[in-house]
Amino acid sequence: MEYIRLGRTELQASVMGLGCGGHSRLGQATGRTEKESVAIVQQALDYGVNFIDTAESYGTEPIVGKALAGVPRDAYILSTKKSLREDDQWITAAQLKAGLERSLKTLNTDYVDIYHLHGLLPDQYDYACSELVPALESLKEQGKIRFSGVTEMFGRDPQHAMLSRATQDPYWDVIMVGFNILNQSARQHVFPHTKANDIGVLIMFAVRRALRSRENFAEMVAYLHEQQLLDPATQSLAAVEAVFGTAGGAASMQDAAYRFCRYEDGVHVTLSGTGNPDHLAANHESLLRPPLPAATTTALKDMFGHIDSVSGN
Ligand SMILES: NC(=O)c1ccc[n+]([C@@H]2O[C@H](COP(=O)([O-])OP(=O)(O)OC[C@H]3O[C@@H](n4cnc5c(N)ncnc54)[C@H](OP(=O)(O)O)[C@@H]3O)[C@@H](O)[C@H]2O)c1
Repeated sequence: MEYIRLGRTELQASVMGLGCGGHSRLGQATGRTEKESVAIVQQALDYGVNFIDTAESYGTEPIVGKALAGVPRDAYILSTKKSLREDDQWITAAQLKAGLERSLKTLNTDYVDIYHLHGLLPDQYDYACSELVPALESLKEQGKIRFSGVTEMFGRDPQHAMLSRATQDPYWDVIMVGFNILNQSARQHVFPHTKANDIGVLIMFAVRRALRSRENFAEMVAYLHEQQLLDPATQSLAAVEAVFGTAGGAASMQDAAYRFCRYEDGVHVTLSGTGNPDHLAANHESLLRPPLPAATTTALKDMFGHIDSVSGN
């Protein structure tokens, strides 16, 4: 595994992070047993992955807690999250603190390394700053969290309106942003600020739904074609797919997807979410391969770099 400084946190994080949410939730969404999901976390640790991302709302904190039992606490970086909505209302500072206490108990630990506000929308941002940031600061002082983070709702905020504000504020040590071949707009709206302010950057949605299979990708290309978002020269699926194939230097579409993200300037940890041990093995190999050939990266930027309206979900 390779490790990277996670911005001003000074944590040394593996370049591959294990995502315990998304459409897979460690396989809990696709019929895997708890034992199989625990084994996925352990397989990732065996590869040297030390960055584990979960959330109260994923239902995978108990699995992560079980998988990490007996592992020295300083051998991994634990990232978890609290959603802003509870009982159909925005949470109070007291609810945030109660949520963290539940997460600590479920994860069987005294502290989490990064505690995020989960999936914050632009219209929730001011409330989060005035009501919840002071609570996060007090949790830091108590040693229950080491760093504060914020993640976006990429599907509903594909142009990063929330994160383009948050990354200019001093409150967030780490952010999680949607970035992939199909929507590269974080390069313009987010990474200049994270670099200037030395904020740790976690990538989600590298593969998600659109890059998971040829069928899904074909659907997405057809949609982009309908929206007139693809250059006529690259409108055919074959033309687009050519860049993902061996001619473009990638082992598969997913291989291209993860490597494209990993080597983007400003990216620290690329998350991979899976419940499938073969996918985990392949993704681990992908994330340790060198960058895609420069011509392939350039072609992917030329084809999709102007698109900021889809997330790939
Ligand atoms: N707003 C937020 O805070 C937010 C939102 C979304 C995600 N996240 C975090 O970010 C993490 C990463 O996002 P994501 O889970 O959507 O990740 P992803 O790694 O981009 O995509 C995962 C999806 O692709 C499939 N997949 C993975 N590897 C594959 C391969 N080699 N071949 C074919 N299919 C493959 C997985 O299914 P299989 O199980 O079949 O492999 C899963 O459905 C999440 O797990 C979560 O921790 C946060």
